[in-house]
Amino acid sequence: MLPFNTLVQIDAKSKRPIYLQLADQLILLIQQGIIPTGYKMPGSRRLAQLLHLNRLTIVAAYEEAANQGWIEIKPSQGSFVSQALPIIQATSWDTVSTHEQQPNPSPKTNLAIQQKLIINRGSPDERLAPIDALARSYRSALKSSVKSRDLIHVDVYQLHKNESIIAAYLNRSRGLHIEGNEVILTQGSQMGIYLSAQSILRPKDTIIIGKTNYVGADTIFESCGAHLHPVDVDEKGIVVDQIEAYCQQHTLRCVYITPHHHLPTTVTLSASRRMKLLKLAVRYQFYIIEDDYDYDFHYSSSPILPLASGDHQGWVIYVGSMSKIIAPGLRFGYTVARGSIMNRMKALRRNIDRYPDLISSKAICSLIRDGDIERHLRKSLKIYKKRRDHFCSLLETYFGEKVQFVKPAGGLAVWVHFDPSISLVELASKAFERGLYFPDGRIYKRENTSLNATRLGFASLRLDEIDEALHILSQSLADL
Ligand SMILES: Cc1ncc(COP(=O)(O)O)c(C=O)c1O
Repeated sequence: MLPFNTLVQIDAKSKRPIYLQLADQLILLIQQGIIPTGYKMPGSRRLAQLLHLNRLTIVAAYEEAANQGWIEIKPSQGSFVSQALPIIQATSWDTVSTHEQQPNPSPKTNLAIQQKLIINRGSPDERLAPIDALARSYRSALKSSVKSRDLIHVDVYQLHKNESIIAAYLNRSRGLHIEGNEVILTQGSQMGIYLSAQSILRPKDTIIIGKTNYVGADTIFESCGAHLHPVDVDEKGIVVDQIEAYCQQHTLRCVYITPHHHLPTTVTLSASRRMKLLKLAVRYQFYIIEDDYDYDFHYSSSPILPLASGDHQGWVIYVGSMSKIIAPGLRFGYTVARGSIMNRMKALRRNIDRYPDLISSKAICSLIRDGDIERHLRKSLKIYKKRRDHFCSLLETYFGEKVQFVKPAGGLAVWVHFDPSISLVELASKAFERGLYFPDGRIYKRENTSLNATRLGFASLRLDEIDEALHILSQSLADL
């Protein structure tokens, strides 16, 4: 047996519960390969004796590690280090083979929707969010801010500290190579896209977008007076050859992409296309706004490293947020850019919001720094994968040939084409009467009026809720 009594150090004075300290250290030992995959962990009684801890503490630590996917607890056999570890480790490009919305509802309609079972367009399940840890973090951020008088004066030091925490997190999780001064904190990705677009685009500049695209970004680009040029998106993401063809004839200022996973179709931009796009950006000197809103949820393999991790010479602006990780109501995001673009973004941000909310950014950054967010991600990834599988299999069972979809490799939603004979608007209305709200896909018809498809979010529903939602959907179809 490994010498757990020397490998594990518990700090009795730490505020972190002992079972979590133990789980953290066991996971670290697994990550480092000191505890190998398949290893049978000592029984809880034995480890409790060795570490002079309560047996229930060991059981809780094992459960925590099992929830995160590091170990498997096999009834009457014991606990084993998982063979297939869910390490969120990005796949580097060269190792990868080359192979809405109904219009905003009125408050009254909104209230009616809230009372229904909801299939959204791809939001997380906020019930899984690390609310207790977040509450502790907010409390401590608030208390320390009163002490240090941050509530009165902007604490520039704390602001830089938060930006540096985000930089370290992105370097660790996405292979970026950045410093805190290349990060601007925002109220979610939407603000990041807005600041990026305002800093880059002048009236009549061309920006290439996918056909179809995230409408919330399109409206920003339109508000800058830019000319939007849609190019095709296929099963490997945006068609980069079409971007090249455009550059050979015209001046291009910017390309907007959602590489994990294209909104709305959910496809991942392939590694080879990423490399080619990056080369084109450097050669033709256009910016790329890389909106990686869905990076963390990739089920069948590791996510592909962002373009921002490559040698982009400042042409890539990287946008992200906590909206898909925790919940969209938590308005926290970041944008990464260099030099004059970053300076312009900071000046613009100061005009509309003097500085980021220090309390919430301090609270969220300390969760990121302490690893709570990565732990939460590992847990949710496992749960969402099960929900995706269940949702897709029920879609097949209930709707058969009436729908077409590809099970998404990642993200929180399925892109579903319905048979042209089915009116999605009518189906949504029947479903609403039966107690289910789902997006009717009208928003995606903007560029393609014959499209009869919508995004159905699976992640925010428990398995029993998925059963109920899809049962209602199938009954509503029968009502038509
Ligand atoms: C592709 C994409 N980018 C950005 C956003 C904005 O998200 P937030 O501002 O909540 O981070 C959304 C919201 O749904 C989105 O779907």
